Amino acid sequence: MNMNNQKIALVTGGTGGIGTAICLALADQGRKVIAGYFPPEKELAETWQQKHKLDGYDFEIVACDVSDFESSQKMLHDVENTIGAVDILVNCAGITRDKTLRQMTPDQWDSVLRTNLDSAFNVTRHVVESMSQNGFGRIVNISSVNGQKGQFGQANYSAAKAGLHGFTKAVAQELAAKGVTVNSVSPGYVKTDMTDAIPEDVRDAIIQQVPMGRMALPDEIAYVVSFLTDDRNTYMTGANLPVNGGMYMT
Ligand code: CAA
Repeated sequence: MNMNNQKIALVTGGTGGIGTAICLALADQGRKVIAGYFPPEKELAETWQQKHKLDGYDFEIVACDVSDFESSQKMLHDVENTIGAVDILVNCAGITRDKTLRQMTPDQWDSVLRTNLDSAFNVTRHVVESMSQNGFGRIVNISSVNGQKGQFGQANYSAAKAGLHGFTKAVAQELAAKGVTVNSVSPGYVKTDMTDAIPEDVRDAIIQQVPMGRMALPDEIAYVVSFLTDDRNTYMTGANLPVNGGMYMT
C-alpha cells in the first residue's frame, strides 16, 4: 500500500499485449500499477509509459529479468523501498519458442521454462513474506489453454504453463490462512504480437477450433484478472479460470 492508501499492483510482462490490458484494468480499479519489463526493452517501455501518461495513466515501470532470481529479488527490493510493498502480483511475462520436439534445441526448452515457469518462483518468492505479514495479497499466474490441453509445436510452452497450475495450487495452500489468494487464468488465443507471430495458415486453423470463432481481445483476459484481484474476492483460491472462447472446456 502506498501513502495514498492505494494498493500496489506489480504486473510482470506489463508492457506486453495482455500485460498492458491488465495494467489498465487494475489502474481503473484504483490500484497503483507497476509494469515490469525485460531490461533490453527499456526504450520501448519508456515510450509505453509516456503514451499511457497522455491518456491519464500514471504507471511506474521497472526493469526485471524474471528468468533470473537475483534480478527479481533486486527489482522487488527497489519497488518496496521506493513505492511500497506489493499487494497484488500478476505473473504475466512469457515467451514462445515453438518447434516440434524433434527439432527443439536445449536452449529453446530452457529459455521457455525459465521465463514462463521459473519466473513465477523467482518473483513470487519475494512478495509472500510481506503479503503474509500484511494479511492481504492477490497473486495471479497467467497460464494458457495450452498448459491444459497441450499444443503441437509447444512441448516447452505447454510444460511450463502446466507447471504454473501446480505452482498455483501449492502456493495457494501455503498462503490460504494468511489472507493471500493465489489463482491462475488460462487464456486461449489472444490477439497480441505473440499470436501474430504464428504462421497465418496455422493461425486460421486454430481459430476454426474455437467455438466463438475468433481470438480473445486482451481486455477480455484483463477483466478476469481484475475480478480475481478485487478486494471482495476473498474466498476463491487455488482456482484456474479458463478464458478461451470455448476452445477447451474444463
Ligand atoms: N496437429 C497435427 N499435425 C500437425 C499440426 C497439428 N496441429 N501442425 C502441423 N502438423 C504436421 C504438418 O502437417 C507436417 O506434417 P508432414 O510432415 O506430414 O507434412 C508436420 O506436422 C510438421 O509441420 P510443419 O512442417 O508445419 O513444421 P514446422 O516445424 O515448420 O512448424 C510449428 C511447426 C512451429 C509448431 C508450427 O506448426 C506452429 O507455429 N504452430 C503453432 C503453434 C502454436 O499454436 N503456438 C501458439 C503461439 S501463441 C501462444 O502460445 C499463446 C497461448 O497461450 C495460446
